[in-house]
Amino acid sequence: MSTPRVAERVSRFGTSIFAEISALAAQCGAVNLGQGFPDFAGPAWVKAAAAAAVDADLNQYAPYQGVPRLREAIAATWQAHGWREVDPAREITITSGATEALFGAMQALLDPGDEALMFEPFYDAYAPDVTMAGGVPRFVKLYPPGSGTVRPDPQAPIPDPQHWWFDPAELAAAFTPRTRLLLLNTPHNPTGKVFTRAELAQIAALCIEHNVTVVADEVYDQLVFGAAAHVPIATLPGMWERTLTLNSIGKTFSVTGWKIGYAVGPAHLTDALRAAHQWITFATATPLQVAAATALEGALASDYYPQLRAAYAERYALLCQVLEAAGLPTLATEGSYFVIADISGAGFANDAAFCRWLVSEVGVAAIPTSVFYADPVTAPLLARFCFAKKLATLRAAGERLGVTRFARG
Ligand SMILES: Cc1ncc(COP(=O)(O)O)c(C=O)c1O
Repeated sequence: MSTPRVAERVSRFGTSIFAEISALAAQCGAVNLGQGFPDFAGPAWVKAAAAAAVDADLNQYAPYQGVPRLREAIAATWQAHGWREVDPAREITITSGATEALFGAMQALLDPGDEALMFEPFYDAYAPDVTMAGGVPRFVKLYPPGSGTVRPDPQAPIPDPQHWWFDPAELAAAFTPRTRLLLLNTPHNPTGKVFTRAELAQIAALCIEHNVTVVADEVYDQLVFGAAAHVPIATLPGMWERTLTLNSIGKTFSVTGWKIGYAVGPAHLTDALRAAHQWITFATATPLQVAAATALEGALASDYYPQLRAAYAERYALLCQVLEAAGLPTLATEGSYFVIADISGAGFANDAAFCRWLVSEVGVAAIPTSVFYADPVTAPLLARFCFAKKLATLRAAGERLGVTRFARG
């Protein structure tokens, strides 16, 4: 009997090294700083709101655009941050995580053969989302800090950790008559880069010139540190009309398993996204949407966001200390909950080999950054560590790494 066929569009996907490292981490009892999710509970008042919503029998389908109270809380959040007045009825859609919003946006905005630009390294869902919509991903390199103004040797060590950067000429050259959209992620996973207003203005000018739509993934918008400031590209002149901004309750309120995401954008882009969304999930978990509304309302009425940032800044500092003490230099994180460590001195041929060894021999899980590259061999020798973890977890990682000490050179 022959094996029934599966579609070609998924046949090349396979399982990623994420799954392999997570399985190895569980098997080896490793301290898991790999996959990006908190190992601590979300706020008690947010959890209580979800339990209360279930108890109150808010358990049937929500309107497909999303629960009105949640859309109003999102509009209030945009206004409170000074970003823009947004119409909750026409310009906001609730999705099953930012993941569904990304998939839906590609379905809504790309025709077969259209090109979608993204900075590389890129969040791993972007390229499959583009190809599943029949689009063609095109990559523009982000270069690691300290690699000067010439194209770096990907294997070279990193002397001076500052900011990740792109070459504006390379970005401009990547636009073609087939370019339909640009996927922008700021704060950026995996690098921790926060795009500056000047960089966003360069991107915006090219998108306007080439009539390109931006899908802005801003799920880490509240996790920004030091002097960095998050600027939604939709707030730049001429950009609202061509930008769909995506976000997620999961990161900001430490409830990644809830999968409540949302998209904010002008009515013509919202209509297109909703047209796709109605046939993807149609609607999203009602009681969790109600609790998400409570979360956003409560955050605005309190000092939740500064407290969140302060708690994350402490975790970030501790993880850097732990990695540096073990002999792994870190690159500066401006936003997100990830730190990139330079592993070029650790003596491994590639980052995957380093991470496999680290999880099985040292007992600490990290993610090789090559998973965020279209062609893994072009990735620099870096590993991503997540600091959305209890201080005790980060200290436990420190104990294991401290015994190891990576010699430089
Ligand atoms: C950059 C980025 N976008 C989107 C997502 C997915 O968000 P959600 O869990 O809301 O689907 C993640 C999760 O790790 C992410 O890092």
